[in-house]
Amino acid sequence: MNLTGYSDRWSVRPGETMTFHVHSVAPTYEARLVRLIHGDENPRGPGFKEIELDSSLDGVHAGAPRIIRKGSCGVVDCPMPAGSFTLDMWIRPTLPGPDRQGLMAWPSGDGGAAFGLFLAADGHVECVGAGPDPLRSQRPVVLRQWYRVRLAVDRAAGRASLTVQPKRWSPEAGGVDRVEGAFGGAIADADGRLLFAAGALEAADDGPRPIEVYNGKIARPRILDAGDATIAAWDFAAKAGTASLVGVDGSPDGRTLNRPARMMTGPDWPGATNSTAPLPETHDAIHFHDDDVSDVGWPVSHSFAIPDDLKSGVYALRLRSGDAEDYLPFFVCPPRGGAGAERLAVLMPTMSYLAYANESLEVGDAVGMSPLQDMGITPERYAYVAENGLKSLYDVHRDGSGIAYGSRRRPIIDFRPKARCRTFDAPHQFAADLHLIDWLTTKGYAFDVITDDLLHHEGASALDPHRVVVSGSHPEYWTTPMLDARDDWLDRGGRFLYLGGNGFYWVTGVAEDEPDVIEVRRYAGTRTWAGDPGEETVSVTGERGGLWRDRGRPPNDRLGVAFTGQGFDRGAAYHRSEASFAPEFSWIFQGVDDAVVGAGRSLVLGHGAAGFEVDKADVMNGTPPHAVVLASTRGFTDAYQAAIECFAQINPWQGGSDPRSGIQSDILFMHGPEGGAVFSAGSIIWSATLSASGYDSDTSRITGNVIDAFLGGPLPGAPKT
Ligand SMILES: [Fe+2]
Repeated sequence: MNLTGYSDRWSVRPGETMTFHVHSVAPTYEARLVRLIHGDENPRGPGFKEIELDSSLDGVHAGAPRIIRKGSCGVVDCPMPAGSFTLDMWIRPTLPGPDRQGLMAWPSGDGGAAFGLFLAADGHVECVGAGPDPLRSQRPVVLRQWYRVRLAVDRAAGRASLTVQPKRWSPEAGGVDRVEGAFGGAIADADGRLLFAAGALEAADDGPRPIEVYNGKIARPRILDAGDATIAAWDFAAKAGTASLVGVDGSPDGRTLNRPARMMTGPDWPGATNSTAPLPETHDAIHFHDDDVSDVGWPVSHSFAIPDDLKSGVYALRLRSGDAEDYLPFFVCPPRGGAGAERLAVLMPTMSYLAYANESLEVGDAVGMSPLQDMGITPERYAYVAENGLKSLYDVHRDGSGIAYGSRRRPIIDFRPKARCRTFDAPHQFAADLHLIDWLTTKGYAFDVITDDLLHHEGASALDPHRVVVSGSHPEYWTTPMLDARDDWLDRGGRFLYLGGNGFYWVTGVAEDEPDVIEVRRYAGTRTWAGDPGEETVSVTGERGGLWRDRGRPPNDRLGVAFTGQGFDRGAAYHRSEASFAPEFSWIFQGVDDAVVGAGRSLVLGHGAAGFEVDKADVMNGTPPHAVVLASTRGFTDAYQAAIECFAQINPWQGGSDPRSGIQSDILFMHGPEGGAVFSAGSIIWSATLSASGYDSDTSRITGNVIDAFLGGPLPGAPKT
């Protein structure tokens, strides 16, 4: 990409300052502050809408190309011992090549030479730097197996011996692999930094760049003296929720770069424990990847103080240079404390935007699940993502392991207006939520924009100024503080419209020491990868990952509905229930005469208000008995398949055309405590129908009716509290 960037924050309030970090191949680019209204260029809808605003950001600015420093490693200040010594470590390689990969090495400081242990491109373990030729193990390692590696250096004798011992015997791994050779002395200009999982740190304008990065796990690295007494050692299980590397018994502490996977199973897993919680003796490994990226560290291009009179809403810094264009979106939230706040707010699902950041999946389409898939959308952007290790929490690393950490401090090509998801060639997440922003704006609602980030860091006080809060289309990733805040606010009478599908699904963690980093562990639920056994814990918080449903906190309990299935071919319509015709619900259906709802046009999947991912009520899964299902879908195709967690075993009726699949979207209403209420639409594409028929669809009327009533006084039929 010739022009892109990122901002240090996505959520700001008037008076706060944020920064933008721009990469520009051209020597100059034009910047402009815009307010985003509608991000979908689909000619069947109202088209792209932005409002240009005057600000200190406007104008032509000098730019420069920026690099992305990918690959994770560990760095510790620990010079090579002057006497004889032994390096001792456990490794579990996952993907050698294309070049050698550093395991434990002292770089020379010039980025070229190094001394230490490496994994050669052909899978042999090597001692490099002791002489003109590396000392090589006799056999290549077997991938995904633990090995103990020891390199003993006898300076007096000028000899080194390398021992590589598999933890488990196999014909390929063999037994102990031991080789000996000459040791020519230390590298003269070594810089005193010891690296784990990289061969060198190359100096780059934007900071150190790891090179010769290792793919695989490392555990229990130690440096011993000639008598096998410890000179220095590191406990990779300690402070595993952070970027710290903890030295044992006074050994120097270090840090990781680019957020390798922590709290990973080590050589003694499975250990003699029945605990599902990570233990220091079983979870003492770090999994490094040559395509890990967290903060790319580009210099500040613009610093922007949010003007006091900038109204809450969705904004972006628009960048243009020749044919290149990019947007760096951000959300201006109302002033802290609620002064001047609107009674209506939209909760933008920023955690989900971050989880999906640079999603690069290609959906296999053997059963016609995604007939709308177009893998040709913005190929140069996806090439940039693939080349620079920028993929999402849906994707896998080069070595096949799932990507568990995501960061906002990097370019994100789908957190953009005009972005289209390749799986169904339409907006998803941020660009899709602008459907709702545009509808509210066009309908004349006064509303604020708040975000998951605010909810996570500030709790229920972020919701308190607002009487009514509307969700985004796919609020899937929730942290414990976010759920607690939501429930606290609902308990005190909050009124919530859940206009999405598959929400409140994955346990999500935010790194305390790097709040722009989130983490998800996938081992159950409908997922694109699964972690290894024992690696279910979110390292940055120490809590069990996976689905909120499996943590006893299903979305049903407060919103009435939960995920049942997904498909990407077309949406379906709702059929009203008998209960919906009761007088106490007539306010919801004012202006809607038909018993079938949501059968019209949609800007995502073309047709129907229920689709992509859909949710239904289920009393067996926590839907409260006072919840009322107002309408339910019929007529999904077999392109829809049931969510994995909805069936205990494989059945031949898990396609959407079979009612036994349980794939259904419900429109649900329920009263809450203190005059509160919840309206759930149970579908990702609900908001894609709001404007698709000239802003006058039945879904538009229902949504408007509910918001209007929620903004008013007591609701019909509300129980006395
Ligand atoms: Fe999702």
